[in-house]
Amino acid sequence: MTTGQLIVADHVAALLSAVAWSATGVAAAARRSSLALGLLAASVLVTLARVTTVAVLAGRGWWFVQEKVLLGLPLLGAAALAAVLSLVVAPRGEITASSVVLLLTTGYAAVAGVVVTLVAGYPLSLSTALIATSLVGVAGLLTVRVVAPSPAGPAGLSRRQFIGLAGAVVAGTAATGVGLRFMPSSSTATGGGPGRHRSEPGVSVADLRGAGAPAPGGARRSYTLTARTATVRLPSGRSFPAWTFDGRVPGPPITATVGDLIEVTLRNADIEGGVTLHWHGYDVACGEDGAPGVTQAAVVPGDEFVYRFRADQPGTYWYHTHQASHLGVRRGLFGTLVVAERMDGAALDLTLPVHTFDGTLVFADPDGRSDFAAAPGTNVRLRLVNTDSDPHRFALAGAPFRVTAVDGRELNHPGEVRDVGLRLPAGGRHDLSFVMPSAPVAVTVDDGRGSVRLGGDVSVDTSGWPELDLLRYGSPATVSLAADRHFTLVLDRGVTLVDGRPAYAQTVNGHGHPSIPDQLVTEGDLVRFTIVNRSLETHPWHLHGHPVLIRSRNGRPATGSPLWMDTFDVRPGEVWEVAFRATNRGIWMNHCHNLPHAHQGMMLRLCYEAVTTPFGDRHHAHG
Ligand code: C2O
Ligand code: CU
Repeated sequence: MTTGQLIVADHVAALLSAVAWSATGVAAAARRSSLALGLLAASVLVTLARVTTVAVLAGRGWWFVQEKVLLGLPLLGAAALAAVLSLVVAPRGEITASSVVLLLTTGYAAVAGVVVTLVAGYPLSLSTALIATSLVGVAGLLTVRVVAPSPAGPAGLSRRQFIGLAGAVVAGTAATGVGLRFMPSSSTATGGGPGRHRSEPGVSVADLRGAGAPAPGGARRSYTLTARTATVRLPSGRSFPAWTFDGRVPGPPITATVGDLIEVTLRNADIEGGVTLHWHGYDVACGEDGAPGVTQAAVVPGDEFVYRFRADQPGTYWYHTHQASHLGVRRGLFGTLVVAERMDGAALDLTLPVHTFDGTLVFADPDGRSDFAAAPGTNVRLRLVNTDSDPHRFALAGAPFRVTAVDGRELNHPGEVRDVGLRLPAGGRHDLSFVMPSAPVAVTVDDGRGSVRLGGDVSVDTSGWPELDLLRYGSPATVSLAADRHFTLVLDRGVTLVDGRPAYAQTVNGHGHPSIPDQLVTEGDLVRFTIVNRSLETHPWHLHGHPVLIRSRNGRPATGSPLWMDTFDVRPGEVWEVAFRATNRGIWMNHCHNLPHAHQGMMLRLCYEAVTTPFGDRHHAHG
């Protein structure tokens, strides 16, 4: 079983146990003794099954079970034990009032366990434990009031006094729990490395800017992109109200050759919420990164901002607005960025972004073409770009091919493959190379929702093709990285603050943006991330400013080509280990590239020591 399936199985067992214990309590309260005993047996069995799922899950990682082992199961176990004992000591066949109270309380404890898992998740805090335990206590006391007929409570107190006293204790505990929840928590994580040296002179991100001139022999590539609303006609003929650069979706393709200077003037005509340009996967100087509220202020209507950086990295990238990007990118504020080597071999070089506009999937080159001519023998390079917030599956039919680059970075000795599916995470890019055969070739998206054709149509069912595992593709090369800092990011859902408001958030270590502690690094550090997905959704993880080297997935080391990615899919239950060298000073966003998830809290910052920002309104650093 995959960890994702185990998580689902455990949720099911937890829910069943909550239902079973509650039903037992209700049957006991109705004095249906044989029904109650039958349900009791079922509850015990389900609970034992639950203990098994938790034990197996624990083997996959403590992050997956912590709150269950430390709180949910002990609470349930204690209540269940007390209930069973009360039945054992009771006169034969009789269900006493205290058994009823204890059985119902066991039901509350089981429900509390489920709620803690779904609402608070990882890590379990003292506050959550106090609140959950006291709520179970309150419910138990209320039940005593309703159910127990006996006039006297324990310790010689009257029932009233007992309930009053116990109620006060429980209320005090709950209040402490709630209070702890709103205590300011530490705002920086150091990952085991040194903390801030206050004495160090600071540098502002506003001063960390790109080169002003091309490399010798390079050219200046100047663009002006104007963000504005426009009605756009899709290749399918449908029109929709888009947010565009220069009235088109995708925006104008930006191309350069290694050594050129890329200079882009961004103007905003009428996008009310403001726009920026973020160069996804391109390791620009931090001041060019386009993170509003961190590296610049968003460009409001009538304003402009000039980005300037040297095209030193060849490969396939893309750009997009980073202001309210969950809306802006979806509506069209993005385009492709391709930097070619000075001597690029491919005779036919196509950049093919895929994007879902207003519910319609579009897979074509930036001019909307999806049919191309190619003479047999032509060297072809296809640059696939996933600009959506969900993964897409691509398949190339009609020719064997190589995946020559992932996220812009060349792979080491990629072997020839055929009849495989390629999964591109949100934001990801794959470059495919092949020699055009005499018959047509087609690339499909999601097994037929979209296709790009070379030389005609190909009809093949690609849905059964296995997925190419990039962690086992290409030849290894030694890259040794011993970490100076290690950060663990546990991704989940839970109730917490996002931008100061309570929400059912997408969380990192139990917090939502901007309350997730900043990750502090020092220039030159080797940094390791362990990224754990406890949730039932895929999270395409994306760090700005640095590609990361994939070390392992689910404890299995990557054995193929060194794989440098800027966005990688952490699927439900997966644990990824990645590493990178901190060589690009700045304050960098580190977030889920499912942009609605980022908006719902799953976004934090990686901060270099002594780098400051004058755009410090963290609440507007929308991913
Ligand atoms: Cu492609 Cu922070 O984004
Ligand atoms: Cu996500």
